[in-house]
Amino acid sequence: KETKLWGGRFEESVTDAVEKFSESISYDKALYKQDILGSKAHATMLAKQGLMTESDRDIILQGLDEILKSIEAGKFVWRTDREDVHMNIEAALTDIIGEPAKKLHTARSRNDQVVTDLRLWCRDAVDKIVTRIRSLQVALVNLAKKNEGLIVPGYTHMQRAQPILLPHLILSYVEQLERDAGRLTDCRGRLNFCPLGACALAGTGLPIDRFMTSDALGFTAPMRNSIDAVSDRDFVLEILSANSIAAVHLSRLGEEWVLWASEEFGFLTPSDAVSTGSSIMPQKKNPDPMELVRGKSARVVGDLVTLLVLCKGLPQAYNRDLQEDKEPLFDSVKTLLGMLEVSAEFAQNVTFNQERIQKALPSGFLDATTLADYLVNKGVPFRTAHDIVGRSVALCVSVNKQLQDLTLPELRSINPVFEEDVYTFLGVQNSVKKFCSYGSTVQSRCPINLVSGFPSLTSI
Ligand code: ARG
Repeated sequence: KETKLWGGRFEESVTDAVEKFSESISYDKALYKQDILGSKAHATMLAKQGLMTESDRDIILQGLDEILKSIEAGKFVWRTDREDVHMNIEAALTDIIGEPAKKLHTARSRNDQVVTDLRLWCRDAVDKIVTRIRSLQVALVNLAKKNEGLIVPGYTHMQRAQPILLPHLILSYVEQLERDAGRLTDCRGRLNFCPLGACALAGTGLPIDRFMTSDALGFTAPMRNSIDAVSDRDFVLEILSANSIAAVHLSRLGEEWVLWASEEFGFLTPSDAVSTGSSIMPQKKNPDPMELVRGKSARVVGDLVTLLVLCKGLPQAYNRDLQEDKEPLFDSVKTLLGMLEVSAEFAQNVTFNQERIQKALPSGFLDATTLADYLVNKGVPFRTAHDIVGRSVALCVSVNKQLQDLTLPELRSINPVFEEDVYTFLGVQNSVKKFCSYGSTVQSRCPINLVSGFPSLTSI
């Protein structure tokens, strides 16, 4: 067995079970790029500070580049007995360049190394997620544009409530995604500080320049407190929280579309390209991708809970438990990226069924609240108006009519305040036009100018 990089004080080697149990190389090799980047910045700084010679530095930089190439060519052999990505790369560097490699870990611990790698990885992950959020927003805005002017029933408690424009509904999801992107961008700003040089926990007595490595790696500044630098994973928690919120938004979209694709609603038809069939029922065409978007949100929330529970019992500073931060992070990011991609594809592949929607619109008294507004315009106090409309609805139910079908004498039998102009408030077409408040359904706004010329949704 090869002696461990930390093997000096040990007389026995670890058991196979312990080795297998404690390895992280099977998943943290995903950090190879960041690890090499960090090592290069670190070696450059050590040379500048006189802690290694320039020729050692050059040999190290070359060796690291060679390792990078061999990893990317799929030729690098990852060894479980070398435990993690950091020791795999350092040991491989020693294999290649010999003596100079032994200088690389000067004024560095795996504790600051791993968290530097992780912050760099998170920075890229946030950028990727935000880009995918943007693509989904564009897909949704295009879908809204395609359905300009289409009125659909709006629901509360899953009961027919008021008429809304379909673009207004779709843009509500665009708004939510806008905040999701904002939350991730906020965490990016907070996480972009450099832990490198915090070493194990206390910093170092060697004359390093933390500002130099921080700059080289594109961080805003070195982290102020070395103990904090190696201890906390709040930046991962922030990403997992933001991811969870985004995942829950997508899950709700998924639920709505699955419901709308049902025979009972029939408002929406996904194209074959985003549907799947049944192994037994030949007639089936299921909206599986959106069901899975809903389903996979569970993993993303689970990943957040895993990390919260992982961190809750940890005293300062680094504890090995923290090695368990990576899998939930990687899983959350990968899962959410997939959810965003598929939601965008689904959005590009759905058709709203005007006919079915049209058929649904007359029932459910969607114009009742507009009728109450009509009475308020006539000087009736709102509570009284509510009661009058309530009684009008009751009359409709008893004679099996819609509000717009009631005759003026019928309406006047409930209250004489009704006049001929009431009919300009009744029916969904009339009702939806009456909305005039900021943010209301005919005032659809788009959070950002994602598609030029949008929105112009006021036309019905
Ligand atoms: N693989 C470890 C992790 O992911 C690296 C740090 C280990 N440090 C240590 N002193 N054992 O956290």
